[in-house]
Amino acid sequence: MYEHDVLVVGAGGAGLRAAIAAHEAGADTAIVSKLHPVRSHTGAAEGGINAALQEGDDWELHAYDTMKGSDYLADAPAVETLAQDAPEDTMRLEHWGMPFSREEDGRVSQRPFGGLSYPRTTYAGAETGHHLLHTMYEQVVKRGIQVYDEWYVMNLATTDEEDPNDRQCEGIVAYDVQSGNVEGFKANQGVILATGGPGQAFDHTTNAVSCTGDGHAMAYRAGAPLEDMEFIQFHPTSLPSTGVLISEGVRGEGGILYNNDGERFMFEYGYANNSGELASRDVVARAELDEVAEGRGVEDEYVHLDMRHLGEDRILDRLENILHLAEDFEGVDGLVEPMPVKPGQHYAMGGIEVDENGQTCIDGLYAAGECACVSVHGGNRLGGNALPELIVFGKRAGAHAAGDDLGEPEIRTGYGDDVEDDDTELPVAPGASGLDSTDAVADGGVAAETGALEQAVERERARVERLMDKDSGVQHAEIRSKLQNAMTDYVNVFRNEEGIKKALKLIRECREEYQDVYVDDPSKTFNTDLQQTIETRNLIDVAETIALGALVRNEFRGAHWRQENQVRDDENWLKHTLVSWDDGEPSIFYRPVILEGEEKTYEPKVRSY
Ligand code: FUM
Repeated sequence: MYEHDVLVVGAGGAGLRAAIAAHEAGADTAIVSKLHPVRSHTGAAEGGINAALQEGDDWELHAYDTMKGSDYLADAPAVETLAQDAPEDTMRLEHWGMPFSREEDGRVSQRPFGGLSYPRTTYAGAETGHHLLHTMYEQVVKRGIQVYDEWYVMNLATTDEEDPNDRQCEGIVAYDVQSGNVEGFKANQGVILATGGPGQAFDHTTNAVSCTGDGHAMAYRAGAPLEDMEFIQFHPTSLPSTGVLISEGVRGEGGILYNNDGERFMFEYGYANNSGELASRDVVARAELDEVAEGRGVEDEYVHLDMRHLGEDRILDRLENILHLAEDFEGVDGLVEPMPVKPGQHYAMGGIEVDENGQTCIDGLYAAGECACVSVHGGNRLGGNALPELIVFGKRAGAHAAGDDLGEPEIRTGYGDDVEDDDTELPVAPGASGLDSTDAVADGGVAAETGALEQAVERERARVERLMDKDSGVQHAEIRSKLQNAMTDYVNVFRNEEGIKKALKLIRECREEYQDVYVDDPSKTFNTDLQQTIETRNLIDVAETIALGALVRNEFRGAHWRQENQVRDDENWLKHTLVSWDDGEPSIFYRPVILEGEEKTYEPKVRSY
């Protein structure tokens, strides 16, 4: 058994920042991560960090753009905290040595990004996330913060009171990838989930194979609601054959999108008459797919992104990484030909419901970064707003878990008297497929009397043993690919009720097939077959919440388009969707969005770009 005050699960941007803050607040802090920190998916973030740093810009404008970008589904207290804290937290990175791109006079450069009214995206070439990770990992090493890397966290150890609001998180159970041992980690003050996104629930994604929604699923099983899961961002410029990201920075620098007829379609067909290629991502992604549907796509599949006119010097200075990606993954030389691009799953706006201090409704359980929903992104995240979220809310979660007083949060969490229940009839009984207690999502809580952590360790050891003992059945890859296809076919950019219901049925089948899953590789060390089998269970749970949210939200807001109701319905839907695991099945409820900021209310307006 290992023991620390604060345990941070995940070593991407949010995890590293949380660990540094917890350590600075005096807590004995450790990071537990399935990857070495600098291999975390934050390293794939290309574009930049939005922060109002320059004269002429201010945090109020950043907050306004973010609320508008969210299609008025973000909570104003969180958005204002993000916009207010981003400048100082970004400059702290600069003081820690982050190699930001600079102007001739030495000031940090900023470029335009989609949906911004000011060029406020700070960047380091087109490898901002890579440098962010290295900069913060140096700080972790410098401070001597313990890192358990290549330890895969399998589950949380929480007490089992009936009401999740009364539960407590006592620690985590992790699998040592090198030895195959399953061990308990006790957290005296708090566990912070910083496990990134669930992109692997989809077939075509910019996300790494490690993005399997582990934190989402663990928190959900333990009783913390998942919020606004239906809002999935599809980035307009991913490479068609692999999903590899081509940064919005290309369009920020002046890159242009063309259809197969050589038309600059964003303007030509009126998708975004003011901002064109720099409209927000949901708008551009839909426009590209409309072009393909109208028969104006290239090879009936994608569109072209052209940056040749920017010139070799500028491209090499600011976008060199893009040249390598286009060449390596698509065989295209971006200096002499346009790059093929199409929308790809990129980001989850929703996540584990938390308040401004990163706290869930379960005592001692926190979440930060993409796995969390505070909520700053609402229905659509603006490009360049993910990295400031990591550093601002990672820092807050770490400090709060370590005992710093950050003040009373305005955002409420968990089931309470401010929520509204949902009574939608579901096409299948989600999650209720009769899995036994060690495999089902119903295994979040354990009896407190013999120690939640000890019991959780025993249960996870039994899970591994059972998976390893079985010598035939279905392999995880088969189930995972069925799940990914179901999500990509039916819960993509364009959605309708019939399709979402089909997806829910297919997810249910995946859950049933998972009963018969087995691990072919018998090794104890570096058994990726075993790890991916466990990850697949998480993907099933998370995919189901995405599809459930998509089914019940019968309106068009941000990234969530519904064929049956193609308008934003503020009268009925200015509210967050919450899905919580309750008595062996998901229950859905709603909490009103907070549009009142410190000094102003963000009145919903028509969102045009
Ligand atoms: O396009 C990009 O460089 C991605 C940035 C982001 O998702 O914020």
